[in-house]
Amino acid sequence: MKVLVVGGGGREHALVWKISQSKSVEKIFCAPGNAGIAEIAEIVPIKSDDLNSLLKFALEHKIDLTIVGPELPLSLGIVDLFESNGLKIFGPRKNAAEIESSKVFAKNFMKKYGIPTANYETFTCDETEKAKKFILGLSPPIVIKADGLAGGKGVTICRNTEEALKTIDLYFSKKIFGSAGEKIVIEEFLEGEEASVFAITDGDDFITLAPAQDYKRALDNDEGKNTGGMGSYAPTPIIDETTLEKIKTQIIKPTIQGLKNEGRKFKGCLYCGLMLTSNGPKVLEFNCRFGDPETQVVLPLLEDDIIDVFLKSIDGGIKDLNYTVKKATSVCVVLASAGYPDDYEVDKEIHGLDEVKEMKDIILFHAGTKKVNGKILTSGGRVIGVTAIGGENDFEGTIKKVYSAVEKIKFDGMHYRKDIGKKALNYLKAKNPKK
Ligand code: AMP
Ligand code: GLY
Repeated sequence: MKVLVVGGGGREHALVWKISQSKSVEKIFCAPGNAGIAEIAEIVPIKSDDLNSLLKFALEHKIDLTIVGPELPLSLGIVDLFESNGLKIFGPRKNAAEIESSKVFAKNFMKKYGIPTANYETFTCDETEKAKKFILGLSPPIVIKADGLAGGKGVTICRNTEEALKTIDLYFSKKIFGSAGEKIVIEEFLEGEEASVFAITDGDDFITLAPAQDYKRALDNDEGKNTGGMGSYAPTPIIDETTLEKIKTQIIKPTIQGLKNEGRKFKGCLYCGLMLTSNGPKVLEFNCRFGDPETQVVLPLLEDDIIDVFLKSIDGGIKDLNYTVKKATSVCVVLASAGYPDDYEVDKEIHGLDEVKEMKDIILFHAGTKKVNGKILTSGGRVIGVTAIGGENDFEGTIKKVYSAVEKIKFDGMHYRKDIGKKALNYLKAKNPKK
């Protein structure tokens, strides 16, 4: 089987890595890929939102299966385009991808189907005064979200009313998010721990992969700016069996059934971004694809052939799939460029990769890297994710392993968080104080 993976970040490297272990795969292409992916797949220089060129490539090379990493091509309708040309592709169609690409749609959908989420109101850019009046009646913190895709930056948590009023002007008058901010959601602030659960669905049934936690803030102790994600670990002990059952019955099942009911049958990976509140799990957001960097810890824990999972999502019958989540722990630390998440430096040579590659239980997932004259250089904000695998419940050992690998890698301006996985340790210690 010939497989095409669309995208070029750490998530796509993890997908290509897992796909390369499948017995049924003879060749993998990745567009546009990165320097790490180039070691296990053939790189295709097509951007992930250039749908027509991707289609042409897939038809010419007789691609048997395409896997889409990022949200943009999904929201532009890559699945609809490939399917109408007789190609097999993993992911939701455009109208189902709207669960991520329109927060207004997602919130109204959740309300209609009774899916637990923060209380909210929606406003359009010609309702500035109405939005401000609504804010005056709320007690901070107040959460303001752009409706459309904003590269993970469209959410502002306002600590006071004044900041919230200013934020309305930034979205509606200054148009900092362009057309993505022409509609907004204003919602209640939820307190609790965040977690990500991936459901792979055929539109009727689903399976869940290991629940993960993502570290979104740039600095230790969840300080600093929001980023695309500075690290992750799985399986998070914060989601126990009972909580997972609640997430399945109160959130995932009604979402999949509701989308089908709306004529937007969702196939692919439904990413549930959750807040575990004292009133139970609530949805912060849905994404229509795998998360980054959660994929870098979730896929190494999947025992089985991932191609079977993709095919069952596309063709149906996912409920009959026998799959196993390994009894292990995984932790991923993202190494970022100086300046990230703002403007960042690039073209810095990365040292130490060869030594780390030889380390046991360590996997390197490249994100923003390129190869020039035999050297690996930085080319993005998030550069590399270092993932370590360790024993069941042994987060202490796995964290040690990951940082011993991280310390061997160097490039100018490199920064990373030093506390990835600590939340799992703290949680387990609080639960079993004697250990
Ligand atoms: P989203 O893109 O909607 O997941 O939001 C990005 C981040 O903002 C989330 O990962 C949370 O950390 C935070 N966030 C979003 N909505 C809320 C909320 N209602 N209450 C508290 N934090 C939130
Ligand atoms: N890790 C957050 C995301 O993929 O959206």
